Amino acid sequence: MDSPQFEDRMAKILFPKEEILQRVKVIAAQITTDYTQNGFAKDPKDRPLLLVGVLRGALVFLADLARRFPIPVEYDLISVSSYGNGTAPGAVRLVKDLEKPIEGRDVLLVEDIIDTGYTIEYLRRSFTARNPASFRVCTLVDKVARRETPTTIDYTGFALEEDEFIVGYGMDYAELYRNLPYIGVLKTEWIG
Ligand code: PRP
Repeated sequence: MDSPQFEDRMAKILFPKEEILQRVKVIAAQITTDYTQNGFAKDPKDRPLLLVGVLRGALVFLADLARRFPIPVEYDLISVSSYGNGTAPGAVRLVKDLEKPIEGRDVLLVEDIIDTGYTIEYLRRSFTARNPASFRVCTLVDKVARRETPTTIDYTGFALEEDEFIVGYGMDYAELYRNLPYIGVLKTEWIG
């Protein structure tokens, strides 16, 4: 029988739980400093930083990150989907929008992984058109090797040079492995 945490299906554990949580702590501290001391907060009404998680992969990262802030933050969730084969490369569709307007707010988009860059650039266009006070991007993993369109990332947990198939800590293969506490490289025999 498989271990409950599927370690036998991993070619390697890339980032163990402790390393991820330590990195999340450092990122939350940096964001806090930037928005409280470095002038990144631009909302004229001084409302809390709004974290926006991109479903479904960012859910685990967002939950851990949000709980590390010593300052008030709010969060909302959106859902997007890539169009399938036969459409323009990088075409993205909004599946579930934000609950509230973001005009005048300080918005920090939270992703689990940035790959080609198309999703984040679609969201950047969609969000900046709504006139937030500021818009920045945070990702746990930046898969640099797969980039197809230029993008700016303000906070990165881990930059990944190799194009490896990673799962865990929100990231899935066929909807499995999202709840693993670590990030691992799936053995090719488990990629069907
Ligand atoms: C992943 C990830 C990003 C997107 C990045 O989502 O969460 O939203 O892919 O890819 P890109 O840079 O090539 O656009 P996915 O489509 O796997 O859905 P999920 O979050 O539900 O797992």
